[in-house]
Amino acid sequence: MTKRKTSKSKGGKKSKSNGRGSNSWKKNRPRKEFVKVEFTRHIPVLLQSVLEQLDLKKGQVFVDCNLGDGGHSEEIAKVLEGDITIAGFDLDQDAIARASANFEIAFKDLKNKPNIIFVNDNFRNLTKALNDKGIGQADAILYDLGLSSYELEESGRGFSFKKDEPLIMTFSNSRDMQVEGARGAIGGDESVDGGGSSASVQFTAEDIINDWDEENIKTIIESYGEDKFAYKIAKAIVKARAEERIKTTSRLAEIIKMAVPSFARFGKTHPATKTFQALRIAINDELSALNETLPQAIDKLNHDGRLVVISYHSLEDRIVKNMFKKFEEEGKGKILTKRPIVPTEDETDENPRARSAKLRVFKKSA
Ligand SMILES: C[S@@+](CC[C@H](N)C(=O)[O-])C[C@H]1O[C@@H](n2cnc3c(N)ncnc32)[C@H](O)[C@@H]1O
Repeated sequence: MTKRKTSKSKGGKKSKSNGRGSNSWKKNRPRKEFVKVEFTRHIPVLLQSVLEQLDLKKGQVFVDCNLGDGGHSEEIAKVLEGDITIAGFDLDQDAIARASANFEIAFKDLKNKPNIIFVNDNFRNLTKALNDKGIGQADAILYDLGLSSYELEESGRGFSFKKDEPLIMTFSNSRDMQVEGARGAIGGDESVDGGGSSASVQFTAEDIINDWDEENIKTIIESYGEDKFAYKIAKAIVKARAEERIKTTSRLAEIIKMAVPSFARFGKTHPATKTFQALRIAINDELSALNETLPQAIDKLNHDGRLVVISYHSLEDRIVKNMFKKFEEEGKGKILTKRPIVPTEDETDENPRARSAKLRVFKKSA
């Protein structure tokens, strides 16, 4: 992704007293040291279409189910001159903190400040979390699925094989945050939509890679990564871990690279891409969460409310497409996008991570 680099000042380095007389502290007082820190700001995908499709008006209630760096919410609030209530969900505590800091700067000059309610929860708990915050019905709900540029590139949680990091891959950066049904892919229900069992421990990529049996690792890579070399990769992982526990992204990427046939090693896409995607989906139980949240979103919408979903791979898009069809058959409203809205070439040139984005819209009428 092309990064939008934002500069930030950081200061306040403390100096120690040298103990030389009463005025010496002045010379050595804590000096504001301005260190230029650069951080990656996630670029909101399909922003113009999102604004148009949500069709929000002043005074309404908007639910952002994937707050991330707050890019979409920030623009919405600005367009509506702050006259909006926004409930912003994110599982990642870092995302909540980053969005909050971004909003402080972005809304500084707004006469009306938007009413922002941060929800550090899984969007699979949409109804309960909104009820707990006293939010009744919403006028528009947005999902911008997957992970942010920050999580991929800077969180240190092992989402990218391009970095040497521990194999964690959880959206939440607290191991206490529950992941329900994360073993969906290997449960009794073999469908990739997830089985929804009730494991309650947040496990990591390291746990799967080192502790799960070969068949289950293969199933995950096959189901969630759609990788035709799943069998070879799972076999190689089990062989390598017998010698030494696999703890880092680099080690895992190396094992995968050696496991696939040589023609697949040097293609345009790194051979570890699909396995990394598969692990992330499994660990965060992403497909079950999506299946569980969409019916809640429809129920939470007001009459004429819009449900907008941006997905980034075919497994997600299939769930959204089928769920929207089902809503239409049940008489809940109308699909507004017979074909998904996709980014223009200009957008993908500027932001390559938008390349696989597909946006679908449903308008509630009952
Ligand atoms: C693509 S980013 C959103 C970017 C955001 N729209 C922006 O413009 O800055 C997706 C975010 O959703 C969060 N997320 C993913 N799955 C989630 C879930 N089931 N519940 C809550 N947050 C989730 C991730 O932690 C990540 O911060």
